Amino acid sequence: MEPLDQGKLPTHLAIIMDGNGRWAQQRMLKRIVGHQRGAETVKMVVEQSSQLGIKYLTLFAFSSENWSRPAIEVRALMTLLKKYIRHETARMMRNNIRYNVIGNRSELPDDVNQTLDEAIQETAANTGMVLTLALSYGGRQEISMAAARLARDITAGVLKHEDVTVDTFSGYLDTGGLPDPDFLIRTSGEMRISNFLLWQLAYTELYFTDINWPDFTINELHKALADFQSRERRFGKTSDQIISTKAYASR
Ligand code: IPE
Ligand code: IPE
Ligand code: MG
Repeated sequence: MEPLDQGKLPTHLAIIMDGNGRWAQQRMLKRIVGHQRGAETVKMVVEQSSQLGIKYLTLFAFSSENWSRPAIEVRALMTLLKKYIRHETARMMRNNIRYNVIGNRSELPDDVNQTLDEAIQETAANTGMVLTLALSYGGRQEISMAAARLARDITAGVLKHEDVTVDTFSGYLDTGGLPDPDFLIRTSGEMRISNFLLWQLAYTELYFTDINWPDFTINELHKALADFQSRERRFGKTSDQIISTKAYASR
């Protein structure tokens, strides 16, 4: 396994877990079997990330656009989600992980919302990694809803329009309080963002792998993190500036 520098892990890792359907279809299995196998990968990645000391893990589990899939697949995904949360809460407690959800929860079935509320409440006092599930989530939807809330606050006189900055706007998003992702992994070979965290990914390092999500292993996770560690994040500065800041910091 690739050796990792503990001091250079992403604070916030985000993942677009893709390729469950193709994984199943390549094996003449039903798509839902791919989702079930994908849930096993989720368990591994959650536990590994928390043990590595990653502070925030955000998983794209169901998009606003995924509602357009066949009803039978949507229903199966909702059932799987509920089962996953129920079964995994004990492990979340053992690993001191706190649940968080982003996305349009009003579109989720009531029983799913109830299970989510229970898991959020039960893990609320945990102080380790924050596991954010993006459910019925779309970046554009999130941004437009944030804009609507902000407009409402301006009308109500709670906020002045001249106080609208990048930071105040960020606070209106579902991710308010979370740092922006440092690293984004997308599996299955697709090179697109698919409406995930559009605002928050502004300076995120991107990583794409051809591996389908059910085949994503600990080794693949370490390989991706090692790749992240080899990158120089410049945030618009020159490489020389980055090197001299580092030299100064290590004096
Ligand atoms: C990702 O796998 C899981 C969800 C989007 C819910 P897909 O179901 O998108 O798998 P492919 O892309 O069809 O292979
Ligand atoms: C993105 O995957 C959403 C999730 C992983 C939940 P999709 O499989 O829905 O993405 P597109 O539609 O192929 O871009
Ligand atoms: Mg897909």
